[in-house]
Parts: sequence; C-alpha cells; structure tokens
Amino acid sequence: MEYKTIIEPFRIHTVQAIDLPDAETREVALVRSGYNIFGLHANEVIIDLLTDSGTGAMSSEQWAGMMRGDETYAGSRSFFRFEDTVKDITGFHHVIPTHQGRAAEKILFSVAVNEGDVVPNNTHFDTTRANVEYQGAEARDILTPGGLDPATVLPFKGNMDLDRLRSTLDEADGRVPLVMITVTNNSGGGQPVSMANLRDARVICDEYQVPLILDACRFAENAWFIKIREDGYAEKTPREIAREMFSYAHGATMSAKKDGLSNIGGFLALNDTEMAQSARNMLILTEGFPTYGGLAGYDLEAIAVGLNEVLDEDYLRYRIRSTAYLAETVSAGGMPIVQPPGGHAVYLDAAGLLPHIPAHEYPAQSLVVELYRAGGVRGVEIGTVMFGRRDPDGGPDEPAAMELVRLAIPRRTYTQSHIDYVAEVVIDVANRAKDLRGFRIVEQAPWLRHFTARFEPL
Ligand code: F0G
Repeated sequence: MEYKTIIEPFRIHTVQAIDLPDAETREVALVRSGYNIFGLHANEVIIDLLTDSGTGAMSSEQWAGMMRGDETYAGSRSFFRFEDTVKDITGFHHVIPTHQGRAAEKILFSVAVNEGDVVPNNTHFDTTRANVEYQGAEARDILTPGGLDPATVLPFKGNMDLDRLRSTLDEADGRVPLVMITVTNNSGGGQPVSMANLRDARVICDEYQVPLILDACRFAENAWFIKIREDGYAEKTPREIAREMFSYAHGATMSAKKDGLSNIGGFLALNDTEMAQSARNMLILTEGFPTYGGLAGYDLEAIAVGLNEVLDEDYLRYRIRSTAYLAETVSAGGMPIVQPPGGHAVYLDAAGLLPHIPAHEYPAQSLVVELYRAGGVRGVEIGTVMFGRRDPDGGPDEPAAMELVRLAIPRRTYTQSHIDYVAEVVIDVANRAKDLRGFRIVEQAPWLRHFTARFEPL
C-alpha cells in the first residue's frame, strides 16, 4: 500500500516558542509601525512568512558541523570543506565566500559592470537590481511573456525571453558585460527556469561572447521542478540536474540563506581566473580574507552540510509539495494566486482579489496588512510599493507589473497545522475582500522604500 500523505522528512529535535499576540496587540503594532510589516517585532507575529531567507531550521548534522568549525583566519579546514562542496555541486573553479547573496552581487558587479552597461536577467531581485543600478548600469528584466500573467499555468514561467535577450545584445552591442538568470525566479512568483532555456541562453551568450551568471539562491528547488516537469529528467537525481544547470553558466551568485539551508552566508563562484582574482581583491577590502569572506568558520561548515542536505529527494519532494498544499488550499477557498505555485512561496494575487483598489492605492499592501490584522500572519508586499516608480512631480506612482503578496515558507520550520492555520486566515480575508481599503504613503525613502515607508489607511 502506498500512502498519499507526504510527511515532513524529519522530526523535531529542538523547539522555539512563538508568541500568540491578540487582536488588540496586533492593532497597536500596526499603528506604531505605520502599517509597514517590516516595522513589526518578532513577538508580535504569529506565523512569519516574510521571507524564506535565513529563517529555516538547521539540522542536527549542521549543528554538529558548527562544533567542528575551524576559526583559523587564513586557510581554515572549514573553508576547504565548504569549497569542496561548492565545487562538487557547481563545477566552478573559483569559490569566494561572502556574508550573504548581495555581497556576492556587489563584488561581481563592481568588477564586471560599468556605467552605461545593460544587465539582462529574467527578473532581477531587488538587491540585484539595486546593485546593478549602483554601478550606473541598467538592470533589464526580460521574462518570458507567459511569466507575467498570474493565472496562466505553464511549467516554466521563470524562463528568459530569448528573443529579447538577442535583441538586447544586438541593441546594447558591447555594453552587456554579463547575462544573469535567476533560479527560481523569486520576484516573478518563485517560478522555475527550464534546462532547455538555460542551454539556449548559453548558446546565445557564446555567440556574443558574454558570460552567463546564475543567481542560484534556489537552485535545488529549480532542479526539482526540472525533474518533475521537463522531459528527460525524471530519472536524474537533483544533484545531477543541478550540476547540468551550473554547467551552462560561467559563474553564480548565491545566498546560502535559501538553498544553503543556513541562517547566514553566500558565495560568488566563477570560472574566469582573472575575474576571480579581481573579485578576491575586492573581497579583502569589503568582506574579509578569501578563506572566510565575512563568515565564521562554523558558518562555512553549516553551509557545506546544508548544500548537500538541500539536494535530498525526500526533502525536495516535501518542500515543493507542502508549498503546493498551501497554494491549493487557499486557491480552493477563493484566493486568486500565481499559478502554478512557486517553490519557496505562495504568491497571492492582490490585483485579482481587490479590483476596487487601484495600483496607486497599493492593493497588495492592503492585503498584507489585513492578513496580519486578522491572524498575525506576516507576508510581504511585492507590488507597487516595492517596484512602482515614483512620479517626480508628486503624482500617482507608475504601477508595478503585478500586485502580489508573497507568503514565503521558511525551510523545515513550520508544520502542517501551522500551514492549515495560515490557509484559514487567508481564506477568511478573501471572503471579506470587498471591505478592504487602500493606503497612502505618508513617509518614504528615496530608494528601497518598502522597508521603511509609513502608510495611512484610506
Ligand atoms: N537573489 C535572489 C533571487 C534573492 O531572493 C535574494 C534574497 C538575493 C539575491 C539576495 O540574497 O538576502 O542573502 O543578500 N532574497 C530574500 C527574500 C531577502 O526575501 O527573497 P541575500
């Protein structure tokens, strides 16, 4: 008999208490934070789905690895274990540790990107975009058109639009220092990129002699989607699939806070020796010596173990299935979502739920606030607050492409009953959608405003 329930492939070894703040406490917290959930304190949140970054639970093997941490400044044993693991999984020649993903981006772009350049990506994550723009270059999103419609069900909605890649390379002749592909495509709904798309992108990059770099934060989840959705991969292991994905790239930036199953860390991996040398020089200036790069030896150990654990088939099956379970439950309960569900998160379609709130009144912000108010569930706005363009003359913002709320699922952290509770809250809010109202911004920073803006309900 094969049972259909996919269980968490672990048992709980250490627990951490969560607070259960009541409705009044939550209302006070909302007013204090200016209706910005980034201003909430952990003890005011019941289920925290703000991010899957650095919020997962480490395994007993990872904690054991931390005890083995070698804190030698130069040439620590932990570094070599970390380097061997990254080389084994990715095949890249040079491995440069960083304290998290954006540090790898900053170092890569400061050695490779110049003012006036254009960097294409399926969709830049916000820190990636900000780091490209900081160099005075243009961060251009060229997602496959199917990826922009939340309701369309396609297997690989994270794919790059290869026609636009070609036209960008033609148009910006000589000004494209590198091409990036984000796996999975976080800002576009956690959607995977197919192996065929990676392979074809590489052929085009070779034609124009431009390196292809993966933003590999969620490479293992992407590998699992390839295994279950793309012809020819069903019998391959996630490790073999990941290795093939990396084989089409010249390098990668990585946040180990995602598919490194760690609470901190990242790396930049490259094949090009000269570029790696420049990156190491920059690393010494900003992060640390090349055998620790802003991390403790014990962090390098935790990442080395995590990178192997994340490729475990039982883990990936449970991970992708449990995300889909939340998506299916809320969707059946009347909440429109990005279809099909992504790997690390469920993306609620606030524009679909709240057609009476125009983009410049921030429908996704309204939904985020209501999920917290109703049940202490913290998601994050990925809409016009995060990605809209401000009108310099004080008029309404130019809207973002989509109005989404991301419910990101920390790895190995919440049980099915936590997720059932979240689904109940989401469905309750969906049933009251017509009562929700928009917001206006009363205070905002000149860039990355979503972190600190203050709002007032309309
Ligand atoms: N690239 C992608 C696709 C990401 O999702 C992130 C982080 C980064 C780069 C930067 O990595 O945080 O280690 O510096 N994403 C987190 C999130 C913050 O919530 O999605 P980092």
